[in-house]
Amino acid sequence: MNDKERVAHYAAQKIKDGMLVGLGTGSTANYFIEELARRRSEDGLCVRVVSSSVVSAVKAQSLQLPLLGFESINHIDVYVDGADEVTPDLTLLKGRGFDLVREKLLARAADEFWVLIDSSKRVDYIGANYAIPIEVMPFAWQMVKHTLELLGGRGNLRQTTHKDGLVVSSYGSLVLDMTFESGLDSQVLNNLLNNTPGVVEHGIFHNLATAVLCTVDDDVVEQLA
Ligand code: A5P
Repeated sequence: MNDKERVAHYAAQKIKDGMLVGLGTGSTANYFIEELARRRSEDGLCVRVVSSSVVSAVKAQSLQLPLLGFESINHIDVYVDGADEVTPDLTLLKGRGFDLVREKLLARAADEFWVLIDSSKRVDYIGANYAIPIEVMPFAWQMVKHTLELLGGRGNLRQTTHKDGLVVSSYGSLVLDMTFESGLDSQVLNNLLNNTPGVVEHGIFHNLATAVLCTVDDDVVEQLA
């Protein structure tokens, strides 16, 4: 079992009967979805789920997890997802996938938000390993980019990997991947992006995680916010 699978299985064991669970997106979230579905079919676990992305919704449905429509919920028990970076104060960087709107809505709507990582995701500051993904309205990307460049940001629209073209989110946003000076505090950046017109959502999740579950050797260690 690899680290992502181990932490995902650990998290799935913590899910209790009757819970409404938010499903994340990415390879770690996929392991969690698979184990949750196994617990439902083999152990009789009674859960309902809502998904942070179209791709996870399709996976959940294919595994017969009872999927609720996003529009039908306003509160969930727990949201379980991976992250790309986690700082010591549990600020996260997310969005190598790119449907950030549903991810942040679920993080806010959840009583608990468990973030599943291995130690390679731990960083001293947000932006240490990745650019900050910023979902922008298509007609606004030039203006947003210019505004962020005046603040020291550098970057460009995310391209698809397999052929020429731009990444477009499920809801039609483009994605700017921007790097900023390492000294720029993530809380300042968070506020700045929240206040930039044309930005639909961005990958900094500040004050949202309630627990980080991290693999250490063959074990999983929980860090509470
Ligand atoms: C989804 O948009 C992302 O934030 C993922 O949660 C993040 O990239 C972690 O992905 P892995 O679990 O594949 O490492």
